[in-house]
Amino acid sequence: MKNIAVFASGSGTNLQAIIDNIAAGTLKANLALVVSDKRKAFALERARKAGIKTLFADPKKFETKEDYEKYIIGYLKDENVELIVLAGFMRIVGPALIKKYKNRILNIHPALLPAFKGGCAIKDAFQYGVKVTGVTVHVVDEKVDHGPIILQEPVSVLDSESVKELEERIHRVEHKIYSQAIQKALSGRLVIKGRKAIFSSK
Ligand code: GRF
Repeated sequence: MKNIAVFASGSGTNLQAIIDNIAAGTLKANLALVVSDKRKAFALERARKAGIKTLFADPKKFETKEDYEKYIIGYLKDENVELIVLAGFMRIVGPALIKKYKNRILNIHPALLPAFKGGCAIKDAFQYGVKVTGVTVHVVDEKVDHGPIILQEPVSVLDSESVKELEERIHRVEHKIYSQAIQKALSGRLVIKGRKAIFSSK
């Protein structure tokens, strides 16, 4: 079973779905470490409750992003982490982590990239009046919400719904497809060619 780490800054509902899917056996991975940049992130509490190791890494204690990431990498090495899963981690990942974990960092975004990048994607799509939005899981590269796409699932926007209702439906899709994408990435068959994430058949 391969070791993964989840990075989260907030409530951690995606983390919870990963924990639950591992417990149910539908995601075959070992969640070795949960990392947060926020001491009070509810995600850390979810991890502790599930008996998972946690690391609160305080960015204020480091002069540079590189030092900060090298500190985290030390813990990832100790836990033999093979894949990093960003789940609401509100920091831009820098070159140190990206180089060390090339094509082995995933992110989930609550819109169909490249539409509606950034931190308010659900609200932005709703206010724009799109009829279809969705969820994207992608490999993390140097640019925000940019790397090769692993999975996308569309979500129709209903005329009658509020942004809150749309948000709930999008989160439900996130909780389903993130584990699927993680499983794919762990299969060892992922090949990155330019912008394309391709899964070889063998
Ligand atoms: C999710 O909507 C995810 O797509 C975005 O941040 C949110 C995290 O939510 N990157 P949660 O902390 O997993 O509940």
